[in-house]
Amino acid sequence: MQQEILRLTGGQELADIVYDADTIGRRVTELGSEIGDYYQTGELLLVGLLKGSFMFLSDLVRAIPRPLTLDFVAAASYGSGTKSSGQVRLLYDPATDVEGKHVLLVEDIVDSGRTLNWLVRMFQTRDPASLEVCSLLHKRIAEPLELEPRFLGFEAPELFLVGYGLDYAEQYRHLPFIASLKE
Ligand code: IMP
Ligand code: MG
Repeated sequence: MQQEILRLTGGQELADIVYDADTIGRRVTELGSEIGDYYQTGELLLVGLLKGSFMFLSDLVRAIPRPLTLDFVAAASYGSGTKSSGQVRLLYDPATDVEGKHVLLVEDIVDSGRTLNWLVRMFQTRDPASLEVCSLLHKRIAEPLELEPRFLGFEAPELFLVGYGLDYAEQYRHLPFIASLKE
């Protein structure tokens, strides 16, 4: 296992595996059925936040047993390091019409909550039938949120995490598990 991780990371050691692939897989399957149960009627649109949610979203949609459409937004609040810059920039805005649809924003992790708050406010102005948040991870250190995630994968430790979509300076997104970085 250690050898395999070193191959994946190019020799970089990680601190700990926080959620292994099986644990993530099981939780994502549960979330998919929770979401399927919650949205009994209407059009469901999942909007994934790039890039961090790409792997989570792709597993999640396969676990939701109802019709849906999906799109992405790209917003950046982080530089290349591990500290939030506080700035949110919208890099890609979905062309999809959200009016009258049940919009579910899909996030990788809620850290400061700035990105999420900013996006929730933006989507609220577009008259969705409903607006909810699904986040894989929540550090519970966020500023007051406009909208707490209705669907949550895991309560995350207050560590900088990588893998399963999460990056450090664009590295590690492809890891099939979530790990903490060596300080
Ligand atoms: P915010 O501070 O809640 O606005 O977080 C914005 C974004 O920063 C998240 O969507 C992640 O992409 C990234 N981020 C926050 N915490 C972590 C982490 O522990 N590891 C990797 N990326 C993170
Ligand atoms: Mg990032």
